Amino acid sequence: MRKRVLGSTGLLVSELGLGTWGLSGDGYAAIPEAEQDAIIDRALALGVTLIETADSYAKGEMETRLGKRLEKHEDVVLVTKLGTDRDASPARKSFAPAFLRDSFERSRERLKREVIDVLLLHNPSERSLERGEATALLEELKAAGAIRAWGASVEGMDAARSAIKQGAQVIELAHNAFHSRILRQLATELRAPNIGVLARSVLAHGLLCGQWPTDKQFASTDHRAERWTSDDLKRRISQLNAVRPCVNGTTVTSLRSAALRFVLSNELVTSAVLGPRSALQLDQLVRDSGREPPYLSEEAIEALMIRLDNVGISA
Ligand SMILES: NC(=O)c1ccc[n+]([C@@H]2O[C@H](COP(=O)([O-])OP(=O)(O)OC[C@H]3O[C@@H](n4cnc5c(N)ncnc54)[C@H](OP(=O)(O)O)[C@@H]3O)[C@@H](O)[C@H]2O)c1
Repeated sequence: MRKRVLGSTGLLVSELGLGTWGLSGDGYAAIPEAEQDAIIDRALALGVTLIETADSYAKGEMETRLGKRLEKHEDVVLVTKLGTDRDASPARKSFAPAFLRDSFERSRERLKREVIDVLLLHNPSERSLERGEATALLEELKAAGAIRAWGASVEGMDAARSAIKQGAQVIELAHNAFHSRILRQLATELRAPNIGVLARSVLAHGLLCGQWPTDKQFASTDHRAERWTSDDLKRRISQLNAVRPCVNGTTVTSLRSAALRFVLSNELVTSAVLGPRSALQLDQLVRDSGREPPYLSEEAIEALMIRLDNVGISA
């Protein structure tokens, strides 16, 4: 597994990371515990050294699982996220320093790590970042040696910009062939201070694998049921035709491979945070990523951007 340096943190991490939301039962359907463990173990065996989680995933259970599973894997860089109060009803976002401090202590205990490698604010708004008190707390934790680096997992451009302005060393954001505009537009702001980028949703929640029928249905508990109307989904599936010419049958053998290679081709990306829901899916993702550059040639990417623009997806 190839490695990249996580921006100015100096941490060396595998360019494919394991995200654990999909294992947690939140967002997608539940996965048996034995399969969750099998996926984590398989990731380690394949050389994954970056694992991403959040204190809210399965109400803390995912961190507890990782704490047990990774006890003998000090070399694995753990990224966790704080800022969701799941004890409140309904659950709500909170970036108040006192809440974050308590959350951090609970995460540290569950993860069984004295020092947390990377601590991110979990989907903060631009406004909560602008206030500066949450990021000041993270800076304080870093100065005290309780974390190695901090940043934010963001949903949009404004929050990303605000996190960068506050001094984030790591930004996590959705980045894939259908959704690459934010990373492109932030390129200069990310490059100058050497900010590490964790790209998530690299398969657009599975859409980019191109394996769904046009009338694909999701269980009501699956976040994808809310994400697309049936017409949206049909349109998105038809837009995959713009990606198909990337598949050449020799190196790029599938749409899934093209999607992964698109993300890994971007030198701003440190690690693609994968969301496999079985050990088999993880094996396929690692195999299809291509393992080494060139993932996709510059010409292939340029041609892809033009085709995407032609189907209404502008970069
Ligand atoms: N705000 C945040 O911080 C945030 C937000 C989103 C995600 N994340 C992190 O990023 C990780 C990944 O993101 P994601 O779940 O949004 O998206 P993703 O990686 O784009 O998609 C995951 C989905 O892709 C499908 N898939 C995975 N491997 C496959 C394979 N080999 N063949 C076919 N389909 C495959 C699975 O769908 P099926 O279940 O249908 O098989 C899976 O649920 C999450 O687990 C989470 O840790 C963080």
